[in-house]
Amino acid sequence: MVELPQHIAIIMDGNGRWAKKRFMPKALGHRRGAETLKQLCKDADKLGLKHMTVYAFSTENWKRSVEEVSALMGLLKEYVGMYIRDNENTNIKMDFIGERESIPQDLREKMEELEEASSDKTGLQLHIALNYGSRDEIKRTMQKIAKKVKAGEISVDDISEDMISDNLDTKGIPDPNF
Ligand code: FPP
Repeated sequence: MVELPQHIAIIMDGNGRWAKKRFMPKALGHRRGAETLKQLCKDADKLGLKHMTVYAFSTENWKRSVEEVSALMGLLKEYVGMYIRDNENTNIKMDFIGERESIPQDLREKMEELEEASSDKTGLQLHIALNYGSRDEIKRTMQKIAKKVKAGEISVDDISEDMISDNLDTKGIPDPNF
């Protein structure tokens, strides 16, 4: 019996190359990537995997063309909507990591709806990194802790590794296996 890792993290790369090789538009490559993820979630849940993180959109991805960013936001909204509709047929819990304020409101509302709808599921936990960047996460974490220091709630010496973990987007999620 093979022991499962507790957390697998996936970078959804290669969509453009997949499409280029087949003389297809890049948007179709992204769509194919989203379809692959849908199946992957079902398979990972069936296998009994507990945590999977997928990197869907990085803070750097805003630098892509307006057309590509807009197509990606549309695709994300479509698939998050699909996961909401499919929620009653699965046992997968979904949440999002990353900065949310810059995400279009209609997509953000769907993300919140999906998190709420799937919050009591006990199977695979799918963590979707959307507008995520590690430096940005560290910045936001430092700001949260600095505000507590400024308000006199804690002192600088109280800052510990546990406190940092508790203020990251990934709070409560075990580190991916290497
Ligand atoms: C990188 O491929 C991929 C992206 C920037 C977007 C991936 C996101 C999706 C497919 C949407 C997934 C949907 C949900 C709900 C999570 P690339 O363009 O860098 O391809 P390349 O490596 O071949 O250049």
